[in-house]
Amino acid sequence: MVTPWQINEQDFPRDGDSAEKLQFLLRYAILAPSSHNTQPWKFSVAEDEIQVLVDRTRWLKVADPDQRELYISVGCALENLLIAAEHFGYGHQVAYFPEPTNEELAVTVKFMPHGEPSPFREPALFDAISSRHTNRKFYEERPIPQSDLQHLQNRCVEEGIWLHMTDDLEIKRKADELIIRLAAISSEVNNRELQVKVGQVFERVCLAATILGIRVHPMSQILEIPELKTEVSKLIPKSDVFPQHTFRLGYAEQEKGHTPRRQLEEVLV
Ligand SMILES: Cc1cc2nc3c(=O)[nH]c(=O)nc-3n(C[C@H](O)[C@H](O)[C@H](O)COP(=O)(O)O)c2cc1C
Repeated sequence: MVTPWQINEQDFPRDGDSAEKLQFLLRYAILAPSSHNTQPWKFSVAEDEIQVLVDRTRWLKVADPDQRELYISVGCALENLLIAAEHFGYGHQVAYFPEPTNEELAVTVKFMPHGEPSPFREPALFDAISSRHTNRKFYEERPIPQSDLQHLQNRCVEEGIWLHMTDDLEIKRKADELIIRLAAISSEVNNRELQVKVGQVFERVCLAATILGIRVHPMSQILEIPELKTEVSKLIPKSDVFPQHTFRLGYAEQEKGHTPRRQLEEVLV
């Protein structure tokens, strides 16, 4: 059976109608990381527009009581969608929560032909979509070059979102003995729109790290333990921000194989 990971850009339906082309972009969206691989997304495709919806039936009530990871996961899928759209030459206009009382409709994306790629989405991110993994292996004590860290830092462009990375030994020790570099993405306001944007930044950082040979491992449990959450908050030089997502970065043996994905047809509405 062909898995969603066996994707070939040559299969883009150049002679197909507009909706068929947009649907092809979603094949990249569904390869995104998600909390416990829940893949909590659904998509509705129209002629020049895709609605990205939150699939609440896949919400993990106990592990993610405030649905933070749910919305971050949807943001990861959105970022893959936009990277794929830019790769195939589309411009896009994203409206977050276009119906203010409808928290299920996370985003509407309108697509236009002949778009300019965004400067913070370098073309190589597209190829990294199908080679990215979460890496839970042992991380070496090799430091990440400053220039690579700066490159990752520059992937965080969204207003109201901050990416912080630390080598602080005390924080590392409290979080996990094996962490080489701990990173946190935080937001100015604790709302759904910024949580989706946190997911976008996280996925962009994952893909940029993949290109640089740097491994990434999300560690949500850090924010679930109040003592560790307080420590993580200290690594963020700004006060009054909301830590949304934490992960470690470093060098490790490559993960083999991919985690499964649902077929695209299962997430279309
Ligand atoms: C919001 C979010 C939270 C996550 N939290 C954890 C975590 O706490 N521990 C962990 O090992 N992986 C975590 N992951 C990684 C997922 O388990 C992983 O993305 C999923 O299993 C799919 O595998 P892949 O990333 O290799 O494609 C998280 C991912 C996301 C997007």
